[in-house]
Amino acid sequence: MSQATQPKNNELAQAVRHSFTLTDNETGESWELPTLHGSVGPKVIDIRKLYGQTGAFTYDPGFTSTASCSSEITYIDGEAGILLHRGYAIAELAENTDFMDVCYLLLHGELPSPEEKEQFDGDITRHTMLHEQLVRFYSGFVRSAHPMAIMVGVVGALSAFYHDSTDINDPLQRMSAAHRLIAKMPTIGAYAYKYSLGQPFMQPLNDLTYSENLLRLMFGVPTQEYQANPVLARAIDRILILHADHEQNASTSTVRLAGSSDANPFACVAAGIASLWGPAHGGANEAVLNMLEEIGTKERIQKFVKKAQDPDDRFRLMGFGHRVYKNYDPRATVMRETCHEVLKELGIQDPKLDLALELERIALEDPYFVDKKLYPNVDFYSGIILRALGFPTNMFTVLFAIGRTVGWISHWKEMMESSESRIGRPRQLYVGKEERPFTAVAQREHTEKRSGWAWLWGGNRKTTDA
Ligand code: CMC
Repeated sequence: MSQATQPKNNELAQAVRHSFTLTDNETGESWELPTLHGSVGPKVIDIRKLYGQTGAFTYDPGFTSTASCSSEITYIDGEAGILLHRGYAIAELAENTDFMDVCYLLLHGELPSPEEKEQFDGDITRHTMLHEQLVRFYSGFVRSAHPMAIMVGVVGALSAFYHDSTDINDPLQRMSAAHRLIAKMPTIGAYAYKYSLGQPFMQPLNDLTYSENLLRLMFGVPTQEYQANPVLARAIDRILILHADHEQNASTSTVRLAGSSDANPFACVAAGIASLWGPAHGGANEAVLNMLEEIGTKERIQKFVKKAQDPDDRFRLMGFGHRVYKNYDPRATVMRETCHEVLKELGIQDPKLDLALELERIALEDPYFVDKKLYPNVDFYSGIILRALGFPTNMFTVLFAIGRTVGWISHWKEMMESSESRIGRPRQLYVGKEERPFTAVAQREHTEKRSGWAWLWGGNRKTTDA
């Protein structure tokens, strides 16, 4: 099919088949709402004209029932535990491809031919170094800075260096920004670690693979040769593949929302990194290890499993549950296998892994977790692997960010190329004061509730010591 005749994703989604009827029970008025059908997955009620026609908004905090865009990149069926990138099952990709293949697939829509792969590998390899002035940014951070804080700053700063790839209307510049981001992320992340140690920054080497380079940038020193263990390089590659994309998650939606105002791609990805950092999202891999540390011994697991069920306690079992998967996370299955491979290769008997497996067993038998369909997610195992490979806990989310960069930039690129993109501008259900007269300062009453710090909690915040 030629480029001109190929239907665009939004045109495919326009195939209206039937409609929903919405009735206002107060006035008896009703409206027909068309449905859109993707290639697979549930139908979508098209509410774009709803406000104009009815004067009402929809209410969906956390977007549990809202499709914010149409996309051809990734498909998830959370009930069946299916994850497909451009139609390929994640387990097959993890088994048969390398991370560069998956990057190409996400960006271009097809797996590369041998010639395309060679060209793409070269494009990435030739962009791995950092500008010398960007390297000076690191000395502005304290040595104890969290590496994700450095990532947000340094990736955002890329916008100041590459004026030849920030014209978002030029497809070549968009692709150049994508290559630069994918290529430089391992260098940026590894330098954050090296800076915390006070060790010299290593230069990337062009004859290494993406994952070998990442390991050498992290663990190599200029005084001796670094030979990456192929089993460990493969494990890193798998971790990157498994994190490469995951549909419209919080960080990807953040990148899309930032990009919807036509912001440059480096700034958009920096926004994505900020969103990923939170423990409910990418920060969970770090939080899993911290939680295992806190649990300490198998005898204490029950106490924490019960604590996670207490509605008055904000504690949750980190690495369990997912907004979309209500079945086993297919990434977790592959990650679990890789975890065992790595520990065997390194000959590590990790008591943390034993603890994690016991926690998994107990939680999977507990009626609370069974009823709510809370299964271990990808982050439950990735932390154990990264720990075995020698990554410090605070670098775990950085690894996630390195893998997810291709997903962010592929979604950004898709959005920039779509004719249906508009600036993202949600509305709200306003529950504040109605218009009221202004009171001069001398006439305002003192309110005990707003004194000191009491106003901060507002009476609504869940605390464990209340
Ligand atoms: N431990 C205990 N209870 C939980 C957990 C958990 N890990 N996850 C969800 N629940 C409960 C929750 O309290 C709620 O109970 P109730 O119905 O009584 O109010 C119910 O299950 C549904 O939870 P929810 O918060 O409505 O679900 P959500 O879709 O908004 O949240 C989640 C999804 C991933 C944020 C949440 O499961 C969680 O906080 N998990 C722990 C953090 C984690 O592992 N995050 C990594 C996600 S995978 C990597 C990625 O894609 O970023």
